Amino acid sequence: MKVLIISSSTRKGRTSHRVALHLANRFNGVAGVEVRILDLMEHKLPMFEEVYVRDENPTVAAKEVAGMLNWADSMVFLTPEYNGTYAPALKNLVDYYNKTEFIKKAIGIVTVSTGALAGMRSAVQMQNLIAALFGYVAPYMLPVGNVTDKFEEDGTLKLPLFENSVHNFVSEFLWLADAIVAKKELAAAAA
Ligand SMILES: Cc1cc2nc3c(=O)[nH]c(=O)nc-3n(C[C@H](O)[C@H](O)[C@H](O)COP(=O)(O)O)c2cc1C
Repeated sequence: MKVLIISSSTRKGRTSHRVALHLANRFNGVAGVEVRILDLMEHKLPMFEEVYVRDENPTVAAKEVAGMLNWADSMVFLTPEYNGTYAPALKNLVDYYNKTEFIKKAIGIVTVSTGALAGMRSAVQMQNLIAALFGYVAPYMLPVGNVTDKFEEDGTLKLPLFENSVHNFVSEFLWLADAIVAKKELAAAAA
């Protein structure tokens, strides 16, 4: 199972990326799982002007990102909440590439806020976003409120009480992702 975590804060001094680092470690510890982080701060994409397949001069970063999206069997959309919704870099990404990069893949939702409400408004909006991409929304989400109380900068979990939520998110996400990949293998074998 190849899991791509899309970390979508491009803000200097960001805090949500620490959750991406933590989740990457968690997925790494599961047998049969390979994980990569697509960091949208590192892989800067152009502001959307035309879709990737019709972009006559895609940047090196755009080609690398296309490779990462295609590599993934499943994805985690990880976003801070800004003004009640998800990060603009995430919307820019999904609009730039084709639905084919997301279609029929399990996609998990992780929202991050320094506040107590944990980015729930962006989480609900991402359910609609993933449906529009014809991805499969993983129903167990991981909304992370008060993020600086829960995670260190290097991704270490600070708050043992939050362990259960992380464990449930990872295991429920992999249950769905594995089921979808198994179904695709069956369909390919029957074809
Ligand atoms: C422009 C802006 C808008 C924000 N709007 C919200 C919001 O609507 N809801 C919320 O819970 N937090 C909001 N916050 C607080 C962020 O959730 C918090 O800054 C968080 O650390 C952002 O993640 P980041 O550090 O990875 O960028 C906002 C922060 C910024 C900079």
